[in-house]
Amino acid sequence: MRSTHRTHPGRDRSAARRAAAALCVAWAFAALPLFARAVPVPDLPAMKTAMGVPATTVTVVEPHLSTREHAVQVRYRGWPAVAVLDKLLGPAWRAPGVEVEFRALDGYVSRIPNERFLRYRAWLVFERIGHPAFALDNLQQNEKDVQLGPYYLVWDNIGHPELLPEGASDWPYQVAAIQVSQARTNALLPKGIAPGFEASAALAQKYCLSCHRVNGYGGDKAPGNLALTARALPAAEFLRWVLQPSRVRPGTTMPGLPDSMAEADRRDAAQHLLDYLVAVPVLP
Ligand code: HEC
Repeated sequence: MRSTHRTHPGRDRSAARRAAAALCVAWAFAALPLFARAVPVPDLPAMKTAMGVPATTVTVVEPHLSTREHAVQVRYRGWPAVAVLDKLLGPAWRAPGVEVEFRALDGYVSRIPNERFLRYRAWLVFERIGHPAFALDNLQQNEKDVQLGPYYLVWDNIGHPELLPEGASDWPYQVAAIQVSQARTNALLPKGIAPGFEASAALAQKYCLSCHRVNGYGGDKAPGNLALTARALPAAEFLRWVLQPSRVRPGTTMPGLPDSMAEADRRDAAQHLLDYLVAVPVLP
């Protein structure tokens, strides 16, 4: 099992086609950019040449090895992610609403909103310092010696401790290609949505859309359009479900909002998710 926030590209592509069909007018006017193609990340010698500056070291609390009680620090070597994105994607990745897709060797895709790179420092790394292999154990998924190469995206969660509760979401490994994507904006913040839902849409993406979809965008572990599923439930039931699904339906495979968040934040997040899912226009 790969981490759940990844979505499979085959499904991604068919979802993108459906969304594209539904939105062909909007897409035509948005003039789907020429850069909407995956760029292979060069191999290490070519990267060294392309970057033109030596790689640097970064120390992070490694979320795959750490628990809430026990933080494990690991040192890696690589380049600041923004420098790599600028080099490989040009300025396109900095446009508002854009996401950067990280494609792994096995085809899994992680999509990360560009704002995150502008707010927090990340590195694209290629070496685990003081360790014989560029690999680690994935405690949460009971996997040993997971290969991280060719590249692994890590976040400075020591400089930005607010990232610590997020765990390993947005830490894609085995990264082979990157790409600029506007699929998220088209599906999650479509024309006609009231302003101010950006943060809630990002919450949904982070905590729900690895499994669910909104307007065709997201994962494939739960059927339907989550915007419609949410509307079909009374508000109180939705909130109870999202906070403690296994209380409502023992044995469900759906996790609640993470309990690494403070309880008040969890409740706020659930309410924001409900408000957003009820407000987002449902695309055909
Ligand atoms: C790991 C996958 C996964 C994640 C993440 C996930 N869900 Fe689910 N969700 C499911 C599955 C599977 C079901 C089907 C019900 C079941 O398995 O019991 C479901 C069902 C639901 C339902 C229908 C409940 C009902 O009464 O029928 C709602 C509403 C829902 N999810 C909302 C959310 C929201 C909101 C989030 C984000 C906070 C979320 N889900 C995150 C997998 C997931």
